[in-house]
Amino acid sequence: MPEPIRYELLAPRPPDEGPIDLSAVGGGAGPLELDIGFGRGMSLFARAECAPHNRLLGIEIKAKWATKVERRRQRLGLDKVTVWAGDARTILRRCGPEGIVARTFVHFPDPWWKKRHQKRRVLQPSFLDTLARLTAAGGELFVQTDVPERHELYHRTVANHPAFEVLSAELDHNPFGAVSNRERRAEEDGLPIYRLLARRRPRP
Ligand SMILES: C[S@@+](CC[C@H](N)C(=O)[O-])C[C@H]1O[C@@H](n2cnc3c(N)ncnc32)[C@H](O)[C@@H]1O
Repeated sequence: MPEPIRYELLAPRPPDEGPIDLSAVGGGAGPLELDIGFGRGMSLFARAECAPHNRLLGIEIKAKWATKVERRRQRLGLDKVTVWAGDARTILRRCGPEGIVARTFVHFPDPWWKKRHQKRRVLQPSFLDTLARLTAAGGELFVQTDVPERHELYHRTVANHPAFEVLSAELDHNPFGAVSNRERRAEEDGLPIYRLLARRRPRP
């Protein structure tokens, strides 16, 4: 029997504890974008191709996917892309400085349905508090899903957050070229995709 691959040990990660400075991530130059829960990583690579001058930080809770995506990133020599394994909610809580993030992508989040798994959800008010702190005034939050009830929930959650203004909850296409694996599959299967774009309000 071959040894099992220890993705937990191989996965790229931020420092274990303490504050995390995002200023230097991806070489330090260019607007910083986040891709939360990138899964198999198509959205990261597609976005890197469309916006090569931007820095892109992807955070994925599954160590196996983070490891595989990091290997591909290295093969492609994408120095402005950073891949971390871990829970985006706890990692980003430790990050700063305030206002460093230009845009956040959350493509097809929350694959859990059971009531007892609600606390695992990424798009909750506390996560929006973190994003509100990290996002520059005028910065954007883009969320898409193929589940209508989730779209309504996300729309309500973002609209109710004082730091975000919903620009559209009915975008009929992804304007960022950051096509994700799930998005591609939903398109191939002819499923409707619900997209929301919000903007960080100016700080008082
Ligand atoms: C339904 S999949 C979508 C994957 C990809 N974004 C796409 O659109 O194809 C949701 C992804 O979010 C990841 N995820 C869920 N909770 C997370 C968290 N707290 N932090 C980081 N990633 C998370 C899951 O592991 C999974 O890869």
